[in-house]
Amino acid sequence: MVLTKISLIFLSAALIASAQQHQPTPMPRQQGAEDPAAVERGRALFRSSCGFCHGNDATGSRAPDLLRSPILLHDDHGTLLGPIIHNGRPEKGMPSFATMKDDEVADIVGYLHHQANAALHSAHVPGDYPLSKLLTGNAQAGKAYFYGPGGCSNCHSVTGDLASIAKKLSPIDLQQQMVYPSDKKIAKTAVVTFADGERCEGKLVHQDEFNVSMICKDGWYRSWPRADVKIEIHDPLEMHRELMSKYTNPDIHNLFAYLETLK
Ligand code: HEC
Ligand code: HEC
Repeated sequence: MVLTKISLIFLSAALIASAQQHQPTPMPRQQGAEDPAAVERGRALFRSSCGFCHGNDATGSRAPDLLRSPILLHDDHGTLLGPIIHNGRPEKGMPSFATMKDDEVADIVGYLHHQANAALHSAHVPGDYPLSKLLTGNAQAGKAYFYGPGGCSNCHSVTGDLASIAKKLSPIDLQQQMVYPSDKKIAKTAVVTFADGERCEGKLVHQDEFNVSMICKDGWYRSWPRADVKIEIHDPLEMHRELMSKYTNPDIHNLFAYLETLK
């Protein structure tokens, strides 16, 4: 816990320092010649955002070994990895990291190339990821965390919305929903303001570059050209995602082990 806090402080200090230096876009990196500071930043980011599924060293856990991924092998400075990180493959359990900043993605990509290179030059051949690797946490500790510091019971109930969740969702889906709940299932709300100051508050139905449509509080469906209105969107899951990124990897493993008992 203490260690995590300290490394988080170092990480934010490093991020702030790099933001303050107004560095130009880094030159493309040679494979195997990554900037050590960027690799360390990437390592920390990978641990917090990807390690739970891909293993902290990227050799695979509940999600595939990335060091042997043909995508990493053929990636050239993020051209292949970047879009996968940003878009994910939600239908296959790989969440999208749509809001991750480009320099963070670049650090993760640098870290992965560094790891792949190190693996090439070592005798260590990562094994396949057996199912037992899925359940490394402690369900009792997960339960204590769920009702205690995790604050999960503020919003969820194991006899209510999460009852039999492990029966409803496959392990890989349960992991994904727990870490990054799908925003398809839950309605975003929005406030649209017109040039004359009038507002519509309600459920967001659709938005793209050109149009926005909503069901306003009066129950009517309406749609406007995006350019004509000011829109403010509230995503109820944003807080959930922020919360999950605050938990340590062991906390997440324990929580998962606990949720798996809810059959
Ligand atoms: C909730 C679990 C989860 C998290 C978190 C996650 N992934 Fe994944 N990832 C998966 C799964 C599952 C797959 C396999 C999808 C498939 O079968 O196509 C995958 C696939 C990938 C692939 C494609 C590998 C290949 O060869 O097809 C890459 C690259 C990848 N993830 C990178 C990342 C990175 C980088 C992060 C962190 C920013 C991350 N993932 C976070 C679950 C996760
Ligand atoms: C601020 C309220 C809030 C907190 C705190 C919270 N969640 Fe959630 N959680 C939600 C919302 C909203 C959803 C999306 C609605 C849904 O799918 O039920 C969700 C979805 C989920 C899902 C997917 C459920 C499904 O049916 O697919 C799981 C699993 C989950 N949360 C686990 C947790 C765990 C574990 C914690 C504690 C570490 C936690 N949540 C903390 C609000 C919260």
